This record gives sequence, structure tokens and C-alpha cells, in this order.
Amino acid sequence: MRSLLPLLLCLPASVLAAPDVPPPAQLGLCAACHRDDGRAGEPGVPRIAGQDETYLRDALNAYRRGKRDHSAMRAIAGALSDRDVEDFARWYSTRPACPPP
Ligand code: HEC
Repeated sequence: MRSLLPLLLCLPASVLAAPDVPPPAQLGLCAACHRDDGRAGEPGVPRIAGQDETYLRDALNAYRRGKRDHSAMRAIAGALSDRDVEDFARWYSTRPACPPP
């Protein structure tokens, strides 16, 4: 039981509350860099798994509106709708933040 504790502490509260979030249809747009679970992979790509939903939404909107500048993220986010942004923020915020043991 003791060994499970760190893993449980890694789970965002939203995973426990709402485990059945459907993957966004366009998840492939992000997975190349952030992976489909948001744990990143490439150097320089931030982990977004388990990040606060509001933070993710605000970050995506900042790229969309050019308030946050990064050429790849700006191009990708610029093509998203409000609905897409909601879906991605919900999806990645509900992914477990920690890797499996
Ligand atoms: C080409 C690789 C690539 C793809 C594809 C990509 N990202 Fe990113 N993403 C990055 C990089 C690199 C950063 C860091 C940019 C910066 O420094 O602002 C980033 C930053 C972010 C951030 C801000 C994270 C933070 O901690 O502030 C969010 C949210 C995000 N991406 C979501 C997405 C979503 C959702 C998609 C798919 C629609 C996506 N990204 C597709 C490379 C990518």
C-alpha cells in the first residue's frame, strides 16, 4: 500500500473525478511532440499531462492570439477553434502527470 502512495499523489484530482474524457479527434496534431498522454518526448517540449485545465486553455489561447510566441505552437494553435481548445485542455489536464512505476 505504501508503494502506491506516490502514484496516487501524482494523479490530478480531475482524473479521479472524471476519468471518461474522450480523446480529441485531432489528438494526432499534438501527439508528435507532446505524445497522446502529454508526457512529451522530444527535448524542449513541455510536459502538459495533468497540468491545470485553465492554464492549458489560457496557454493555447495565448498562442492563438499571438500573445505567446513560438512558431510551431502558434501555427498549430492558430488553426484550432474554441471548442478544440476546450477539448485539448480537458484531455491533457486529465492525463496522469506521472509516468507508470
Ligand atoms: C512541433 C511540435 C509540437 C506540436 C505538434 C505541438 N506542440 Fe505544444 N508545444 C511545443 C513546444 C516546443 C512548446 C513550448 C513552446 C514555448 O516555449 O512557448 C509547446 C507548448 C505547449 C503548451 C504550453 C505549455 C506550458 O507549459 O506553458 C501547450 C498547452 C501546448 N503546447 C499544447 C499543444 C496542443 C494541444 C497541441 C496540439 C493541438 C500541441 N501543443 C502541438 C511543441 C509542439
